[in-house]
Amino acid sequence: MPGLLLGDEFPNFEAETTNGKIKFHDFLGDSWGILFSHPRDYTPVCTTELGRAAKLSDEFSRRNVKMIALSIDSLEDHRGWTKDILAYNDEESGCAFPFPIIADNQRELAVALGMLDPDEKDKDGMPLTARCVFVIGQDKKLKLSLLYPATTGRNFDEILRVVDSLQLTAKNRVATPADWQPGERVMVPPNIPEEEAAAMFPAGVYTKELPSERKYLRYTPQP
Ligand code: BEZ
Repeated sequence: MPGLLLGDEFPNFEAETTNGKIKFHDFLGDSWGILFSHPRDYTPVCTTELGRAAKLSDEFSRRNVKMIALSIDSLEDHRGWTKDILAYNDEESGCAFPFPIIADNQRELAVALGMLDPDEKDKDGMPLTARCVFVIGQDKKLKLSLLYPATTGRNFDEILRVVDSLQLTAKNRVATPADWQPGERVMVPPNIPEEEAAAMFPAGVYTKELPSERKYLRYTPQP
């Protein structure tokens, strides 16, 4: 079953969160969004993940990205656990947590968004949420999705890096190569003919010579 595909409009769901009830598109407003799920509150890997996400929240704000987390735990659990996450980050427990967490106790959203991990079950044998990431563009469409099992924590620096790539490539007809970091040279996509590429990228196009003699490995400075 395919679930949500890249380019699909993200569902405008309603949910209870630690910051009150939301309608997702209103929550996003004109911002980009990142919705990420975790298996369970008060668990070690999840605590390190949400701690890292909280530490990076200013970086996401600077990129106009609104963050929101989700698990199948209750609002009460989320509120108690965020104090632990702040303590893990060596911050005061009275500080406001920088993004809301959705309480999906009934697993309605987790099912609708394909977030459940059939291999991870609670004490009643019910599946927990996997480590899912959705990045949503300002047009409310899905731009990227990642799905990790419960036993593998995510790299939130990588998620910031892909946001940088998504935002750059939304504005410019370029692509970013493996391990690209902001400021590094980018690639000219293969569907841009040679003459057009020269006009489109006045900073210059460098084409790497290859044994096939095909001229597809083209670089240009980041626009
Ligand atoms: C964790 O967050 O540590 C975790 C949660 C569920 C399964 C495995 C690990």
